[in-house]
Amino acid sequence: MSEVVLRADDLAKTFRLGFFRKRIEAVKQASFEVRRGEIFGYLGPNGSGKTTTLKMLMGLVFPSRGRAEVLGQPVPDRQAKRRLGYLPESPYFYDYLTPEEFLDLVGALFDVKRAERRIRADRLIERVGLSSARGRPLRKFSKGMLQRIGIAQALMGEPELVVLDEPMTGLDPIGRKEIRDLMLDLKREGRTVLYSTHILPDVEMTCDRVAMIFAGRIRSVGPLSELLTARLLSTEVCLRPGAAGLPELPAGARKSENPDGLVIDLPADADVDAFLRAVLAAGARVHSLTPRRESLEDLFVREATSHNQGAA
Ligand SMILES: Nc1ncnc2c1ncn2[C@@H]1O[C@H](COP(=O)(O)OP(=O)(O)OP(=O)(O)O)[C@@H](O)[C@H]1O
Ligand SMILES: [Mg+2]
Repeated sequence: MSEVVLRADDLAKTFRLGFFRKRIEAVKQASFEVRRGEIFGYLGPNGSGKTTTLKMLMGLVFPSRGRAEVLGQPVPDRQAKRRLGYLPESPYFYDYLTPEEFLDLVGALFDVKRAERRIRADRLIERVGLSSARGRPLRKFSKGMLQRIGIAQALMGEPELVVLDEPMTGLDPIGRKEIRDLMLDLKREGRTVLYSTHILPDVEMTCDRVAMIFAGRIRSVGPLSELLTARLLSTEVCLRPGAAGLPELPAGARKSENPDGLVIDLPADADVDAFLRAVLAAGARVHSLTPRRESLEDLFVREATSHNQGAA
């Protein structure tokens, strides 16, 4: 099994708020591991505890319980910090600086030599699609442009591990695609990426493994492929009936029409072979057969609903 580069071990965080010290259990139980070279998605709805977990892993919030380990060291660790890049949820920018100046400053904090800083800044500005805004101060940047420069600064130290809190926020579809491609490039270079999001299609396109958090508790962790292919929801058969019409449909099957003919949606437990034999015997032409497996969205909704029922 590949090396673990980040570990959340039973992490929990309770905030105390206001005069009455009201307890807010932002994270109740978070355990997962991120392995070297993978893209790991941390998914959950708004307010579920993603940012708080990531802050605990970055050593910015002290956990109420549990342990965090990054690049083999217990958090916080100065040496480990130099080998990682982090995009916070609401980054603070020195907004009178241009992208070049800002990246140069970040590079200096990582002790990168001046000439090398210039090369890296140049390359990163290009990579996040900000070449045309090179000379503009950050205060004149749009939301999506700030997000791009935020991602660039996370990469200035050429980190082994990149942790991004909602990198797709504020990006248009082209920007999202560019950032997805960038993450895949980072993976190709052997770097590890952990990012939080609630944009499920992005996760399906990029992540090797995911953890899902609902109301502060992690409900599912695993390879995307395993979490998703585990459940067959139904099988869709598209056909055009012959002169003999359609045989009797299996229990629970649903019929609808589309331009190619009829669509029969067979439930997961139906005998698909027997149905096909019967329709072919009745002279039908079968256009397509599509197993419908659970999508990430189905899984997300199922987990969220089961949590709500559990809490009730
Ligand atoms: N400093 C804080 N003090 C008190 N409560 C906090 C603090 N930070 C977060 N919370 C609460 O903890 C819960 C989880 O917040 P968190 O920001 O971790 O969620 P999130 O999953 O990142 O949400 P989003 O998708 O909206 O970014 C929320 O109820 C939030 O109000
Ligand atoms: Mg957040």
